[in-house]
Amino acid sequence: MPPLEPSDLEPRPLVDAETIPADWYVDARFHDLDRVAVLARSWQLVGHASQIPEPGDLLCLTVAGEPILAVRGEDGRVRGFFNVCRHRGGPLALQDGKVSALRCHYHGWTYALDGRLRGVPEMAEVQSFRREDFGLVPLTLVEWEGLLFVCLDDAESNPADLWGDIPGRIAPQSLARSSFVRRVRYEIGCNWKVYVDNFLEGYHLPIVHPELCKLLDYRRYVTELGTAHSLQFSPFLDAGAGSPYRAGDDGADGRAFYYFLWPNTMLNILPGRLQINRVLPLASDRTEVHFDYLYEDTGSPKAEARIAADIDYSDRVQQEDVEICELVQRGLSSRAYQRGRFSAKRESGVHHFQNLLRAAYARAVDAETKRADIG
Ligand code: FES
Ligand SMILES: [Fe+2]
Repeated sequence: MPPLEPSDLEPRPLVDAETIPADWYVDARFHDLDRVAVLARSWQLVGHASQIPEPGDLLCLTVAGEPILAVRGEDGRVRGFFNVCRHRGGPLALQDGKVSALRCHYHGWTYALDGRLRGVPEMAEVQSFRREDFGLVPLTLVEWEGLLFVCLDDAESNPADLWGDIPGRIAPQSLARSSFVRRVRYEIGCNWKVYVDNFLEGYHLPIVHPELCKLLDYRRYVTELGTAHSLQFSPFLDAGAGSPYRAGDDGADGRAFYYFLWPNTMLNILPGRLQINRVLPLASDRTEVHFDYLYEDTGSPKAEARIAADIDYSDRVQQEDVEICELVQRGLSSRAYQRGRFSAKRESGVHHFQNLLRAAYARAVDAETKRADIG
């Protein structure tokens, strides 16, 4: 456990609060703490149901250092498992794809899509070995509006706290109706919390994204806080034809919803489009970010042009964020910086995230204290 000042774990009102200490972004011990106390105990987005419509379709992912998979069974149900063979730890899946059974890539033990161990080559003479004792280790998986979430350990929050009333807020748009089109991956030289902090405020828009800022009505840009999510909302200004930032063809209002779901999922919702960001810590100063693009209309030639323009535009905005996040990581690593303050008008989302983080660390400290008392 890294050193934690009790005063840093205490939440304070936004107008009076300091940011979390620089060590939390820099010290490798916090990378380990984030894995066990934050990522393993929260709801992690595996993907969207449209990616695995048929039995045998599977998604695999590494979350908090753990290989996991989600697969649709013969009964149509999606199940989550650790992607770890019960023989000697081999992998069942190396990439997203389609399978008729889950066959280990080491010695070929084979599991049914519901996780039961079926085929075990050359094990006939082994004593007291029962196949039913060696099924894949399951993960708790919940599906909401087509989004599939798993939890690696005991969840510390009710999954419904993550989404609150998002469907009502974004109606008539629907997350469930979107279909997956493409993933773009970025590797960034910063701590994952730098990337999340940066996502959670529009304060940097005029300086870092002057072009995007011209498309959004910055004066009407607001942040709303939920239990385990927050929303940044902005109406569009009048964007030109071909821009992803324009009203829907069906006459839907031009507005952007930027949702953050604790601790590392983002849903960026524009008319007819859902872009999901998944923020995966690789090391204290390296982060992988996935941009998954989903659309309501994917087939028409007009849709194809729009999708290409959207992905291209998002990539330009992302490059601006990558550059500033990497520079901020350098600043946070400097001996000159310890803690900062918040703009009460523009950074309530960052404060909200950092308080959820303080609470997760405080629970880890409590658990450690209890273990030490028992010991
Ligand atoms: S580790 Fe999977 S079959 Fe040996
Ligand atoms: Fe940004």
